[in-house]
Amino acid sequence: MRRLAGPAETGYSLAACVRAGGFLVDPEWYRDAVFYELHVRAFADGNADGVGDFLGLTERLDHLVDLGVDCLWLLPFYPSPRRDDGYDIADYCAIDPAFGTLDDFRLFLAEAHARGLRVITELVLNHTSDQHPWFIAARASRDSPLRDFYVWSDTTERYRDARIIFCDTEKSNWTFDEASQAYYWHRFYAHQPDLNFDNPKVLEEIWGVMRFWLDQGVDGFRVDAVPYLIERDGTSCENLPETHGVLKELRRRVDTAYPGHAKVLLAESNMWPEDVRPYFGDGDEFHMAFHFPIMPRMFMALRLEDRKPIIDIIERTPSLPPGGQWGLFLRNHDELTLEMVTQIERDYMWDEYARDPIARLNLGIRRRLAPLMDNDRRRIELLTAMLFSLNGSPFLYYGDEIGMGDDVTRGDRNGVRTPMQWSSRRNAGFAPAEVTSLFAPLIDDPVFGFASVNVESQRGSTSSLLSWVKALLRVRKQTHVFGRGTIRFFTPKNHRVLCWLRSLDAEDVLVVNNLAATAQAVELDLADFAGAVPVEMFGGSLFPRIKATSYMLTMAPYGFYWFRLRRI
Ligand code: GLC
Repeated sequence: MRRLAGPAETGYSLAACVRAGGFLVDPEWYRDAVFYELHVRAFADGNADGVGDFLGLTERLDHLVDLGVDCLWLLPFYPSPRRDDGYDIADYCAIDPAFGTLDDFRLFLAEAHARGLRVITELVLNHTSDQHPWFIAARASRDSPLRDFYVWSDTTERYRDARIIFCDTEKSNWTFDEASQAYYWHRFYAHQPDLNFDNPKVLEEIWGVMRFWLDQGVDGFRVDAVPYLIERDGTSCENLPETHGVLKELRRRVDTAYPGHAKVLLAESNMWPEDVRPYFGDGDEFHMAFHFPIMPRMFMALRLEDRKPIIDIIERTPSLPPGGQWGLFLRNHDELTLEMVTQIERDYMWDEYARDPIARLNLGIRRRLAPLMDNDRRRIELLTAMLFSLNGSPFLYYGDEIGMGDDVTRGDRNGVRTPMQWSSRRNAGFAPAEVTSLFAPLIDDPVFGFASVNVESQRGSTSSLLSWVKALLRVRKQTHVFGRGTIRFFTPKNHRVLCWLRSLDAEDVLVVNNLAATAQAVELDLADFAGAVPVEMFGGSLFPRIKATSYMLTMAPYGFYWFRLRRI
């Protein structure tokens, strides 16, 4: 069993570490961590009812330890009508009975911690389900004491400049409530009324929710939909200073109530980098935020065989305050969002990656990584290796470590949330239940179906994607440079080659990626490193010593290298 990494393992100064529960904890552990996003419902069924649950997840923790990830991010598991797969919460401080009990959750958390795995959960604070008792009470009468927990209006005239996010389903951000004869405000589905953060009681309630889960021992939160907390007329109702005020207050309370516990707050703010930067504040708001715009540009660069989209967006990304970290991902439980691209880029992405309109949803593409890559191992590996060597902490989406497929014919985003494929046996080893009781059909097509794509068979094969991902994780963990180092791009003449340097203290790692489907040669100006020997990090081979003249590399189609530059 692993312990949560302490200073000896992380190599960080004792002075920077704090004592919690008898252990020394590195407060910036999340900068070295590899995250793994999973849906309890879809991961493993422990009680044979066809629905994943905490018992099943606990039994499968060893897969995650074996994979080498550090922190699990659990999608919402709270009681909910599940009209937005749990992002419509009806009770914040309980477990949906379909997934188990609070005791099952506690056991899971203890077992995860005992294995050195941290766990972050979802904090959906912008809205509740319309089935939440607060909303039921609020809509019951205009005089309800909870009326002010939500945002009401007699007309739809207010906040007209706010865009509609779920544009395929919603026509307005206002919905008329028959019961109380007024409109309520919602940025997502109509059944998800927005909480009113102008009401200080709402913040107190949400703080109560945070305390409840932090007291259970969770290591932090992925905070859902943070840009939309406060509305003001004449604005887009996004990223407002008052919203930052709410978030800073929550961070202050976490720091004050849990000093030294190294809890992490991660923002879901699907915005341009300059608009996400304020969510880090001066180190007093979020520890982490997802970098949304870089994700589609990785897919674009690969299709264009051109490094420009990636370099442009990273060079446009402001630097972070000390302790700040980007969360990087290729795929997650939502559509591959194309909100942070231009219309021309969006059309390009749709044309190249979602020619069939059924694969499109809102402003995005509802597909998993392997199908997007035409199941081409070289491209899957290249994108994953880039994800693991760029400047941030990587997030893996469950099933992508084995190259799972999707089902675009299923509604909403359900096609990328199908049962985890553990084996080629009955129900993919996901559930010892009747196949008709499974919460969702298994992927069973000839290419991506569980008979061919599953953990068990890949575990037994040294050449499988799973074995490759494990090796990648091991290599990343040899150094802190990927999680904590700076990044600098090279611009050799060959624009199909994307090359960057990660540096931390005296350590330099050179990453070279061939974005093209054809072999490429590249000449790099490495004069600053003359005398150093590149050591290829996967196999340990020594490459020719760097000289003052340009350094020539030849690259296989979609090939990549990670070199530690050894100065001898
Ligand atoms: C976030 C979630 C998404 C959900 C939405 C509304 O964007 O990632 O799945 O539908 O919030 O809660």
